Amino acid sequence: MSVVAVIGGQWGDEGKGRIVDLLAQHAHMVIRYSGGNNAGHTVINDRGVFKLHLIPAGIFNPSTANIIGTGVVVDPASLLEEMETLAAADVSFDRLYISDRAHVILPYHREQDRLQETLRGDGKIGTTGRGVGPAYSDKMERIGLRMADLRDEHTLRQQLARAASMKNAFFRALNGPQVVAEELFEQLRAYGQRLRAHIVPSHPLVQRALQRGERILLEGAQASLLDVDWGTYPYVTSSAPGAAGACQGSGIGPRHLSRILGVYKAYTTRVGGGPFPTELRDETGDLLRERGHEYGTTTGRPRRCGWFDAVAARYVAELNSLTHLVITKLDVLDPLPVIRICTGYRLKGELIDYMPTLASELERVEPIYEELPGWQSDTSAVRDYAALPANARRYLERLAELIGVPLAIISVGASRDASITRVPVEALFA
Ligand code: IMP
Repeated sequence: MSVVAVIGGQWGDEGKGRIVDLLAQHAHMVIRYSGGNNAGHTVINDRGVFKLHLIPAGIFNPSTANIIGTGVVVDPASLLEEMETLAAADVSFDRLYISDRAHVILPYHREQDRLQETLRGDGKIGTTGRGVGPAYSDKMERIGLRMADLRDEHTLRQQLARAASMKNAFFRALNGPQVVAEELFEQLRAYGQRLRAHIVPSHPLVQRALQRGERILLEGAQASLLDVDWGTYPYVTSSAPGAAGACQGSGIGPRHLSRILGVYKAYTTRVGGGPFPTELRDETGDLLRERGHEYGTTTGRPRRCGWFDAVAARYVAELNSLTHLVITKLDVLDPLPVIRICTGYRLKGELIDYMPTLASELERVEPIYEELPGWQSDTSAVRDYAALPANARRYLERLAELIGVPLAIISVGASRDASITRVPVEALFA
């Protein structure tokens, strides 16, 4: 039996989609465990280029079971739209399952997301506007609706009436639109009917797979620095995208995790507000954005770009007990004569080697850099570690040393084959 978790090591958009796609070819089951359609995984394979938001990347493999796990918040409208796009490419949904315990993103969550961002003014988070935060807060508030409710008219009506009275009190205070429970009921019932075949209790499926010793892949979305507990609060998402969240969101106990892969970009990006110590607001930042096509998959926003932050990266490795490192987009750095790595911060004149808790302090830290020579040659066609330029290997090895985790996979391009595997994918599942 082997359970492999893929975790975002920075602020998201590290290229988890392509790594998950690579690993999914060897998996019997893929489980998306947290987040919602705020995620955007670009997968490029022999069928084309796909932007996945909710559906696990194993969907392209007909023999793989794909589960949208309990920890995910599901916007049924967005899910159905994604299914339609994939259906046009002849993708089969016979093995797509949605945990009946997963919470539902409702239209009023999107409205609430928008209103709250406006109210935050200068302190706005820069959310994706998909209603993810409000859906998670309603889950904790215990006024959420779950996928199981969409299949049961009586519960749906009852839960919706309760939620609508609370929501309408909130929206009234903000002069927002009122929820018409009866209209929403009809809409949700229709979604329930369309998705009925896929909404199942996920626990028996997952347990059977574990008992049969199957290869299970836990697909992360967002990333550890966006974690609601450990990220750069309040500039975070509202779920737990790390290894602990992978267990909670999939219903697999921690003892079963055999490998925990941290995916990091060879530099850093962030989309939305919040502190970013190594951000480059200069030509190098622009070069990274253009070469790396750093525009949001979900919202199209330009991503903020900067040097690799090894302080943040090591923090994430420790939080998640990472066993292996995946470094993506190495080729983006190809033209640079000198590459910098942040190895510490200076805060109020003092040298520190950890991320301060207060966003206001992290905003003020001065990054301490180590400089490494660039390689200034094209790595995009390299498929063998030994064939990488010596300076590229030196850079990668320094990253692994600073993070304290061994290198497993390096990517040098967007397509499935543009990767260098130091640990064969089969061995990760062994
Ligand atoms: P929310 O998850 O839409 O509430 O947004 C909260 C913060 O997380 C914002 O800064 C978003 O830009 C960021 N975020 C959420 N999902 C992703 C993602 O998949 N990639 C990168 N940033 C994300």
